[in-house]
Amino acid sequence: MAQHLYGIDLGTSNFKIFSLTNKKTINEKNVIAKKNRDEVFQYGDPAFEMYEKAPSNIDITFPVKFGVIADIRNMDSLFECFFKKLNGKSFSGSGDFCIAVPTDITEVEKRAFYDMIAESRVRAKHINVVEKPIADAVGVGIDVDSPKGNLIVNIGSDTTEISVISLGGIVLSKLIKIGGSKLDEAICSIVRKKYNLIIGRRTAEQIKINLADAMNTSEDTYVAYGRNIVTGLPTSKEISSSLVYEAISEHLHSIIDSVKVILERTPPELAADIISTGVYLTGGSSQINNLDVLVNKETGLDVNLDDNPEETVIRGIAEILSDDKMSGLMYVPREKQYN
Ligand SMILES: Nc1ncnc2c1ncn2[C@@H]1O[C@H](COP(=O)(O)OP(=O)(O)OP(=O)(O)O)[C@@H](O)[C@H]1O
Ligand SMILES: [Mg+2]
Repeated sequence: MAQHLYGIDLGTSNFKIFSLTNKKTINEKNVIAKKNRDEVFQYGDPAFEMYEKAPSNIDITFPVKFGVIADIRNMDSLFECFFKKLNGKSFSGSGDFCIAVPTDITEVEKRAFYDMIAESRVRAKHINVVEKPIADAVGVGIDVDSPKGNLIVNIGSDTTEISVISLGGIVLSKLIKIGGSKLDEAICSIVRKKYNLIIGRRTAEQIKINLADAMNTSEDTYVAYGRNIVTGLPTSKEISSSLVYEAISEHLHSIIDSVKVILERTPPELAADIISTGVYLTGGSSQINNLDVLVNKETGLDVNLDDNPEETVIRGIAEILSDDKMSGLMYVPREKQYN
């Protein structure tokens, strides 16, 4: 086994990388800002700060879209930047990597995660992948090898991954294209319709984090700044929690409907296990207030929440890397086939 072990969870919104050697995790926005086309200007959280504010010679890109790598060149640059940040400038060794991949994507898309590391300037000795729902389950403390069914719903930024696992494998998994950024878009559009106010994506995310309540019980408000479409001038408006509920409720119900579809397809013995343990909600968007109450009301299942749900996958990878008994959960994806 190599001396340095690294885990990676590439999210649409956040890049998470972990080093077993120095027990350090970086969780920053998966964003790169390039100047004059090729020069890395900023990356991670500081690059996200520039989003929708930068002049035209600075391009700000999110290289992962809907859970898969959409822009390999920028993804490679970002990986190298975060790898250097994790290890400090002086690091010159090689390492073993484990990277999480969504289950419900094509083999070619899975291989792209492997290739990103293999083709970068970082010297990798061994590269393995692990299915995200498996890492997620390990991260929340489930004994994945037991013959017990578990339902995990990871609500991230562009995607929600709904999976039933048992005996260290995935029985059912569905990746749907709804997550936190869909909610942000819905908030932008309702604020525009109701108040003629154009707000940016970062403002919409802040409104969501402060006001979103899945049961519409909150009476909180938040002052948002933007531009009035009619006057063209900058202005502000007090946004209510119930307006945010109106914007996001349909999307939350779509997620829950997909969970119900998976439950309908779950073999009865596993369904019985799920009734006794409940559903695990993970991913950053599971932090929406009262989402557990809504899920319980709609499905009848108990809900298990995590204190740090954005990092359940990377935590799971860290555990898999630390425990030889779990090494069978990792594998090397098939090479691209050219006909
Ligand atoms: N307190 C909060 N309330 C609601 N949403 C939140 C909160 N904190 C973070 N989020 C949302 O969580 C999302 C990021 O979560 P996460 O890191 O799990 O996504 P990701 O892994 O990058 O995306 P994906 O898994 O879809 O590729 C963002 O949409 C963010 O706005
Ligand atoms: Mg994720």
